[in-house]
Amino acid sequence: MKKRIFSAVMIAAVSAVLFPLFVSAETSGPTNDMYGDIDYDGIISSADALQVLRCSVGTDEYDTVQQGLSDIDDDGSITASDALDILRYSVGLSVETKVGRDVDGSQKTDQKKTLVAYFSRTGNTETVADYIIELTNADRFVIEAADPYSDADIEYNSDCRANREQNDKSVRPEIKGKIDDISQYDTIYLGYAIWWGQEPRIIDTFLESYDFSDITVIPFCTSASSGISASERNIRELGVEFGELKTGRRFAIGSTREQISEWVGEISPTRQSDVVYAHIGENTLPIKLEDNSSARAFEELLKNGDLTLKMDDYGNFEKVGELGFALERNDEDITTVPGDLILYQGDKITIYYDINSWSFTRLGHIQGKSQEELRSILGSGSVTVIFSLR
Ligand SMILES: Cc1cc2nc3c(=O)[nH]c(=O)nc-3n(C[C@H](O)[C@H](O)[C@H](O)COP(=O)(O)O)c2cc1C
Repeated sequence: MKKRIFSAVMIAAVSAVLFPLFVSAETSGPTNDMYGDIDYDGIISSADALQVLRCSVGTDEYDTVQQGLSDIDDDGSITASDALDILRYSVGLSVETKVGRDVDGSQKTDQKKTLVAYFSRTGNTETVADYIIELTNADRFVIEAADPYSDADIEYNSDCRANREQNDKSVRPEIKGKIDDISQYDTIYLGYAIWWGQEPRIIDTFLESYDFSDITVIPFCTSASSGISASERNIRELGVEFGELKTGRRFAIGSTREQISEWVGEISPTRQSDVVYAHIGENTLPIKLEDNSSARAFEELLKNGDLTLKMDDYGNFEKVGELGFALERNDEDITTVPGDLILYQGDKITIYYDINSWSFTRLGHIQGKSQEELRSILGSGSVTVIFSLR
């Protein structure tokens, strides 16, 4: 009892001090209906925080969905610290509305990320890079020259800048911009055009600019006809220390998504066992799988071939499709976030584009798509979704 009175007093004191500071943020808070938006008005604001405070001392009642939305630190109880997290978020002091879960609903883990870094003067390598980014959910870094290459600079039938640089292995063209904290990546796909049988010198500048000793680097290139091996030899001879330097791959100009996907499937450390894809029309959505036996069963299913489901709206929060058979269940009470892939009653697959609380099994989460993007990709009414390993 004493504890309850103490926390009520503390909360009142905290809110009295903090509330005036945060009132101004109420109208400017981010539009987001994820964790923290207790009054469902699309804005995470000080009003939400106050409501959580009231709920935490029993002044206000909340429904089950609100309960799920309120427990920001995921400790199983609604407390002043949850309210403070919401307040922090509402004024931009925090970028998360739920510990371990980014505001777009994607799971935050300690896992390192993948980067695709590439130099592409005429766009061919960039097309390949775009596919790799989509397939691996990687970040992008465009290697650009501080002094950009003009058309005349790459006119290889003349004594152009590119030709002169390629004739001198010591040239290091300066790069525009820098990668913020390269140690956040454990895998870097490194893309470039072939210039006179080799990597453009700016790739050497790039490789000598960072510490790759804990990073797996995977080269890829595009060319009219030359292979990648001379450039790989040059890269090895730079003496840069790599976590691992994988054997790379040359792509012909105009290579298809399927060709690139097949290679990524073979070489990508992230494909291994925890990412599958949902193909919806022109869109390919990576799904990071949960660590449970249902998700593993789902992945095993896809190893036998793609799974095509006709999925329909239900409850204005999900698309649901019948499997026609059952997968092992690991049901638990879950409040969904948009992008969740859920196994419902063992024999239905659902993609959530809104919030719902129920007991079911989370199979995974679609990466990197906001609720608005998901709604637009899924459309209204029936949609055909092809789940696949690639
Ligand atoms: C200066 C220069 C030299 C090139 N040398 C070669 C070459 O030796 N072998 C080859 O197959 N293609 C060569 N190409 C063609 C490019 O490798 C090819 O067009 C590449 O896809 C361009 O990539 P990007 O569009 O990403 O810049 C050269 C192009 C330029 C501009």
